[in-house]
Amino acid sequence: MNVILLGPPGVGKGTQGVLLAEGKSWKHLSTGDILRANRREGTPLGQEAQKYMDAGELVPDELIVAMVKDTLAAMPSDQGVLFDGFPRTVPQAEALDVALEDLNRNVDRVVVLEADDDVLVKRLSGRRSCPDCGSVFNVYMNPPALEGTCDKCGADLVHRPDDNPETVQNRLTVYAEQTEPLIRFYEGREGVMLKIPGVGSVEEIQNGILAAL
Ligand code: AP5
Repeated sequence: MNVILLGPPGVGKGTQGVLLAEGKSWKHLSTGDILRANRREGTPLGQEAQKYMDAGELVPDELIVAMVKDTLAAMPSDQGVLFDGFPRTVPQAEALDVALEDLNRNVDRVVVLEADDDVLVKRLSGRRSCPDCGSVFNVYMNPPALEGTCDKCGADLVHRPDDNPETVQNRLTVYAEQTEPLIRFYEGREGVMLKIPGVGSVEEIQNGILAAL
C-alpha cells in the first residue's frame, strides 16, 4: 500500500507517521527527515537545501523528486510506503504518479490531517526533536521524562531552527499557497482521500487514521 500523509506544519505528520509505519511495517519516507540527515552529514544536497529550510521555503522540486526516486528504487518492490511531507507541490505529485507507475504502484490513499493555525503555532513553539533517532516531544503537551534528553536513545534534544515564530508563519503561508492545492489534485480520485481531524490525543488521531484506512 502507498499512502500519503498530507497536512500543514505541526499537524502531527511525523508523530502519526512513525506510529503508522511501525504498526503496518511500511517504509516511513519523510522528505524533511532525509533532508535534515543530509544537512547533518554535510552532503551537497544538505548544503543546498539548508537555505530553503531555514527560511521556511520549499526545496526545489527537482532535488526532492530525485531524492524520493532514489529511495523508492532502493526498496523491495512489495514494501508499503508512507509518504510524510511529500508531495508538497502539484509538480511533485505529478512526478510521484509517474515514478510509482514505473514501479507498478499507485497512490492508494491520501490521509489529510487538519488543525487550526493557533494549534499548529503552539505545537511548533514547544517541539523538541531528537537528531539521532527522530523521536518528537513537546515541552507543553508531551515532555520527555528528563528535560532536554530523548526518552528513547538519550541524545540531547534540539529545537528545530525552522520552528522560530517568523519561519513558522512563512511555512504556514507556503503550505496554503503551494501544498493545499494538492487536496483538490487528489479529491477527484474516488475513494482515495481521507480527511482526519488532527486534534485530540495522539492515540485518538492514530485510531481515527487506522479506522479510516
Ligand atoms: P518537514 O520536516 O516535512 O516539516 P513540516 O511539514 O513543516 O512538518 P513538521 O515536521 O514541522 O510537523 P509535523 O506535521 O510532522 O508535526 P509533528 O509530528 O512533528 O519539512 C521541513 C522543511 O524541509 C520544509 O519547510 C522544506 O524546506 C523542506 N521540505 C521537506 N519536504 C519537502 C518537499 N516535499 N518539497 C520541498 N521541500 C521540502 O508534531 C509537531 C509537534 O506537535 C510536536 O512537538 C509533537 O510532539 C506535537 N504533537 C503532535 N501531535 C500532537 C497531538 N495530537 N497533541 C498534542 N501535541 C501533538
